[in-house]
Amino acid sequence: MRKPMIAGNWKLHKTVSEALELVKDVQKNVADVQDVEIVVAPVFTALYPVAAELKGSNIAVSSQDVYWEEQGPFTGEVVPGMLKDVGCTHAIIGHSERRQYFGETEETVNKKVKAALAAGLTPIMCVGETLEQRESGDTMNVVAAQVRGGLEGLSNDDVAKIVIAYEPVWAIGTGKTATPDQAQDVHKSIRDLVAEIASADVADGIRILYGGSVKPENVDELMGQPDLDGALVGGAALKSDSFTRLVKFEK
Ligand code: PGA
Repeated sequence: MRKPMIAGNWKLHKTVSEALELVKDVQKNVADVQDVEIVVAPVFTALYPVAAELKGSNIAVSSQDVYWEEQGPFTGEVVPGMLKDVGCTHAIIGHSERRQYFGETEETVNKKVKAALAAGLTPIMCVGETLEQRESGDTMNVVAAQVRGGLEGLSNDDVAKIVIAYEPVWAIGTGKTATPDQAQDVHKSIRDLVAEIASADVADGIRILYGGSVKPENVDELMGQPDLDGALVGGAALKSDSFTRLVKFEK
């Protein structure tokens, strides 16, 4: 009932020609896939050509960030309306790298989520604890505060449109993956929290992705967990064969 989503977060990688080469190949490999929502998130400079290439295909395009104003004196920012204009349908918001290196807070994540929704983009809102927080037993407090903060002031209808990505910071780009049980525990707690914040129906329908060293070797087991509805993938999304294998996960 929840359509799985496999989303590739390309981070700071790929020129326009490299991006086009990758998506053309992925497109060929996944053309027959209907039961998975496939998303790629290139850097801003590659969004327009990639979205143009993928127009009419079964692969959607996401930005890796947004800003919340409509326009004006905000040097360097890009806003949801402009992303829609170039063919984006999704926006990654609040990735831990942005929280860690670019001063993203629960408040800015919340503003970005609202701006994305207002423009008709689907936010992929990231949450996750650091190793220190996990080791001190704070995982769910941290994740719950991030989920509550990001969803603050949203109607139930809007909460239902969001995709949440649980990405333990200690598993991102480290090769260390949360065990399927560890991931499932947090996903279930997030779903329970969404039921409390919105409603049981919204919680039942919302998709919660896992992110952090997802690769062909572990995707099937992770996707076998009942509350895991997909993956947000960094490293393994940069190559056509590994990304294709993730899209074609087997439960
Ligand atoms: P990774 O990145 O798959 O390279 O660990 C995941 C992410 O940061 O979204």
